[in-house]
Amino acid sequence: MRMTLAWSVLFLVVLHVQLMACSLANANLRQDILSSYDKNVRPVKNFSRPTEVRMDVSLRQILGLAEREQVLTSLLWIRMYWTDEYLSWNPVQYDDLDNIRIPSADIWLPDIFLYNNADTWQTGELATNTDVSVTSEGYVTWLQPITARTSCKVHTGLFPFDSQVCDLLLGSWSYDGTEIDLYNTSESGDISSFVENGEWDLLTVAAQRELNYYSCCPEPWPNLRYLVALQRRADYYLFTFVLPCMASIFVVLGGFFLPTNAAVRIQLNVTVLLALTVFLMMVQESMPTSSGDVSVIGEIYTTAIAIVGLSTLATVLVINLSENDRPVPAWIARYFSDTPSKKIGDHGATPSSYGPHATNGDLHAQAQSNGYDSEACGHVAHAKDYGNDASPPCCRQCENLRKLLGTMQNHYTNAAKEQLRRKIWKRVALLVNHCLLFMMFIGTVTAVIFIFAPVIEKSNRIDPNSNNL
Ligand SMILES: *[C@@H]1O[C@H](CO)[C@@H](O)[C@H](O)[C@H]1NC(C)=O
Ligand SMILES: *[C@@H]1O[C@H](CO)[C@@H](O)[C@H](O)[C@H]1NC(C)=O
Repeated sequence: MRMTLAWSVLFLVVLHVQLMACSLANANLRQDILSSYDKNVRPVKNFSRPTEVRMDVSLRQILGLAEREQVLTSLLWIRMYWTDEYLSWNPVQYDDLDNIRIPSADIWLPDIFLYNNADTWQTGELATNTDVSVTSEGYVTWLQPITARTSCKVHTGLFPFDSQVCDLLLGSWSYDGTEIDLYNTSESGDISSFVENGEWDLLTVAAQRELNYYSCCPEPWPNLRYLVALQRRADYYLFTFVLPCMASIFVVLGGFFLPTNAAVRIQLNVTVLLALTVFLMMVQESMPTSSGDVSVIGEIYTTAIAIVGLSTLATVLVINLSENDRPVPAWIARYFSDTPSKKIGDHGATPSSYGPHATNGDLHAQAQSNGYDSEACGHVAHAKDYGNDASPPCCRQCENLRKLLGTMQNHYTNAAKEQLRRKIWKRVALLVNHCLLFMMFIGTVTAVIFIFAPVIEKSNRIDPNSNNL
């Protein structure tokens, strides 16, 4: 028991001494390598050799792409690796310590800048106060998390079926390629820890190394360009904006099946028109105001408003025709006289005899065919020879009866004519209604094809390496 305790104490003491030695070594090492260190001097012993800085960007999250401001906000982990020739030591002298952490503020750092930074200078200059890790060979690893707000040209022509490519352009601000040579560690950015975004699908993050030459100086300036390709998730817009719009058009087209003289059709169209206008205003709120190209959703709404407007005009025309008081023009009457009379709903008479040119002559002819002939009456009067009596009773009765009958016939015929005229106009209105409905339908289908063809065409050839989407 006593022995065990003694051994334990001894072990603890040894461990303590070990730890002391280690932290002592760490402190000594820091002291030794940082005492004569000048963090403003690029850490190379031969100044004609560049410092090779290798970089990698890990995209953690898309915080948002503001279409109006044209700014992409993202969370990035920037990793930089380079060799600092003044930060090397012999591990044997320091208890085999071959890796230490130093605050990044204590050593030289490459002044990598986010060139297309859309925020203040401070966030553009990548310099967070994280520690760097240094190996005994002087190999420095600096990891820093940043929230980047970068400008990104947003092309809203295909909104909400658009995809966007935003760059992250990184490079040294003051050192040219002969001093800091910038390289990518891989062909693409790291997206292994990407957090899914609700509005955007991340397609790729491609890396490109570019050499730029400026008029000031002959040296090349290396840049790294990360192209973040995003595809908008259209479901939200499809369900909240596109489908209601389509439903409105169907409602308006369905209104053509209401009776041709129903004024409620105009109310229906005007209501839908108002609803569409409100929806359009909501859509426009999220669009860049000064964008040159009209978005797909804008086209959809403008077309829908045009279709509903034309439908309203068509409805006015149809109601006007159907409630028409004017006489039926000859050519229309002729066209409809060819149709079987039962279709028109007349009781056996051909419509032409009731047309606008039907005269009282026809009625006389009909009266005569029914046996009420004034001349025949006259013959009877002469045959019986009533002398100079001006109006024989038979003839007077005959005449009265004939007049009465004529008036009745006239009245009846006029009523029938009126009814028939209305029926013809209604039929004309119905025909025009169906023609207009057909035209509206064809127009809608054509518009849908014209609007959605570019969307389908573009979605078939998304090229994340081009910035011209
Ligand atoms: C410095 O580096 C350059 C290019 O690598 C080389 O030509 C030159 O000899 C070096 N100078 C010294 C003093 O090592
Ligand atoms: C860096 O990016 C380029 C494309 O610009 C690529 O060809 C190259 O292979 C990348 N470098 C590495 C080390 O992957």
